[in-house]
Amino acid sequence: MADFDLAATFIPSLHKPASLLPIARHKKSLLYTIETYPVTIVVGQTGSGKTTQIPQYLEQAGWCADGKIIAVTQPRRVAATTVAIRVAEEMGCKIGAEVGYSIRFEDVTSSSTRIKFLTDGLLLREALVDPLLSRYSVIMVDEAHERSLSTDVLLGVLKKILKRRSNDLRIIISSATLQAEEFLKFFAGDEDTQPRQESAVTLDDLISQGANKSTSTGHSTGQIVNLEGRTYPVDILYLEAPSEDYVEKAVQTVFEIHTKESDGDILVFLTGREEIDNAVQGISERAASLHPRAQALMPLPLYAGLSTEQQMYVFEEAPENTRKVIFSTNIAEASITIDGIVYVVDTGFVKLRAFNPLTGIETLTATPVSKASATQRAGRAGRTRPGKCFRLYTESNFERLLESTVPEIQRSNLAPVILQLKALGIDNIVRFPFLTSPPSELVIRALELLYSLGALDTYAKLTRPLGTRMAELAVEPMMAKTLLSAATFGCLSEILTIAAMTSLGGSVWVPHDGEKKKMESARRKFAVEEGDHITLLNVYQAFITKGKKEARFCHDNYLNFKSLTRAVSIRGQLKRYLERFGITVPETLSSNPNLQPLSVGGPDKGEQIRRCLTTGYFAHAAKMQPDGTFRNVAGGTVLHAHPTSLMFNRKAEWVIFHEVMETGSKTFIRDVSKIEKGWLVEYAPEFYKIQ
Ligand code: CDP
Ligand code: MG
Repeated sequence: MADFDLAATFIPSLHKPASLLPIARHKKSLLYTIETYPVTIVVGQTGSGKTTQIPQYLEQAGWCADGKIIAVTQPRRVAATTVAIRVAEEMGCKIGAEVGYSIRFEDVTSSSTRIKFLTDGLLLREALVDPLLSRYSVIMVDEAHERSLSTDVLLGVLKKILKRRSNDLRIIISSATLQAEEFLKFFAGDEDTQPRQESAVTLDDLISQGANKSTSTGHSTGQIVNLEGRTYPVDILYLEAPSEDYVEKAVQTVFEIHTKESDGDILVFLTGREEIDNAVQGISERAASLHPRAQALMPLPLYAGLSTEQQMYVFEEAPENTRKVIFSTNIAEASITIDGIVYVVDTGFVKLRAFNPLTGIETLTATPVSKASATQRAGRAGRTRPGKCFRLYTESNFERLLESTVPEIQRSNLAPVILQLKALGIDNIVRFPFLTSPPSELVIRALELLYSLGALDTYAKLTRPLGTRMAELAVEPMMAKTLLSAATFGCLSEILTIAAMTSLGGSVWVPHDGEKKKMESARRKFAVEEGDHITLLNVYQAFITKGKKEARFCHDNYLNFKSLTRAVSIRGQLKRYLERFGITVPETLSSNPNLQPLSVGGPDKGEQIRRCLTTGYFAHAAKMQPDGTFRNVAGGTVLHAHPTSLMFNRKAEWVIFHEVMETGSKTFIRDVSKIEKGWLVEYAPEFYKIQ
């Protein structure tokens, strides 16, 4: 046990004996309930031991006999990996052995894996190949109170699966207090029998064959187990008048706490990376003004874009005579527990995704939190001893907050999940058992998009092979369509790269301190006139020909080595999907040692790539205005090329873009490439007729 993986080098010092966790007292009753009822709802404060202990209890109690697996789903990838590492450590095994995790494009499991942490979205994906999820004896849907889009859909699918597997499958829903009853009612409630499908065997068919075994009442379906974790009182303090700039106010508040309050670490909730980086910098700059012998302040960022190693710093104990202050996104609200927090600074905002079915634009906007969220945030201060929560808003503002956050399913682009449901054989979306039904405008918009992408036919049935393949590919529908069109444009190798590069979920560029300008000129070396997609292709190409071998290549070019390495791995995985469909990938990437842009293998390659992108991204088209901004096709929305885009300050007429994001009062488009207007009508005649 001496030399297992890196996680072991820093986590042990944090170990609290598992027997001291609140859940320990409930072990017996928990196991009894799980044994007796198909559904167990576990309610308890974060940190009470639900995520890390329940899977171990189950494994010890024999739920992994006959090679069965315990699945624990998480809404966030980072949570899936961190808790998996933690549990592997507690069980004294290598991550990926008895305990593993699986997130999109990263599977760290093996044939010996008995406890598997995975994202809820990934479990849904597994249902495509194993409709009854038969490898699993227990499925624990963790953090269900967060009501992520995939969690909600997964719950509906599990409700259906349970009708067929009520004897051998156990479902555990773990939740913070408020929604426990709602979850139980959901599983206990009787569902309309689905109309039979005439097509191949579907999940619905399988289920109706096995249904009617039990009449489920609330009592026989499930039970709620309440863990009542020990918490300490938290004093709540409000501002007297609203603050103009909550980032600045947060930094000030941290200094006030640091100078006036007793020991204890501080947790500050902000909405995103930029704010967090600014706040961390603000602390570092002003820390000089502290008395030299005063306790030091150690600011630490925490957000999903950080590497796992960087995130691990927040769990480490601060050095002597130092107070940790963690600036975090919502990630620290309910998914990640950091010990030693005594003060919480709640700015009252969270970044929420919202999809506008009228414009088709998905935005990520700082939105006031709900009361439930604010309460949860405050609770983070009272875990080790009595704490204080500083709300950077007024009490009357608090009173006006929504009771709970609008579930994602009511504010998301539903195209990906509807495509998946269709692929699971669930054709009648309206009758699917949703915990909360999505608004019909969102459903209609998704159906329209999937139809114009060719994934659905006029009867809203999945097309074969295009629709089924799109559902299987682990990228969103527009990119899936692009990938599946690429062979006919003779640019599959290039589109695979672009798909991988745009799936990274973050920029491949890293400015070194204060060298933003130099980064820009480095970037220009890879840039091409046609836009960002082909530029990304050039970057990737340079990386695989030079960057992987020359240690300084990434550093010198302001590129993120890790991201690019990940892109290589993602590309490989997407390629394997295509090969499984019988599509061969001719590798046409030429080596390009001199970093000369524009050489994508022939004069028309660039155009073919952009045409191909249009087959998937026609709904993300925009026209440039004389002032350099863009209008989307519907005409109403002003779009700005993101400063990281090459189209920032360049001329184009029509463009397509990968994503759109609203930050503050501006709506930015990212990964933008020029196209011809005629291509839109050529590749999406139906869509542009509707418009
Ligand atoms: O799921 P729940 O929030 O109820 O608790 P948990 O995640 O199982 O956490 C149980 C204990 O393990 C807490 O004391 C956490 O602080 C600790 N833990 C940790 O130190 N590192 C992790 N990656 C996960 C949990
Ligand atoms: Mg948990």
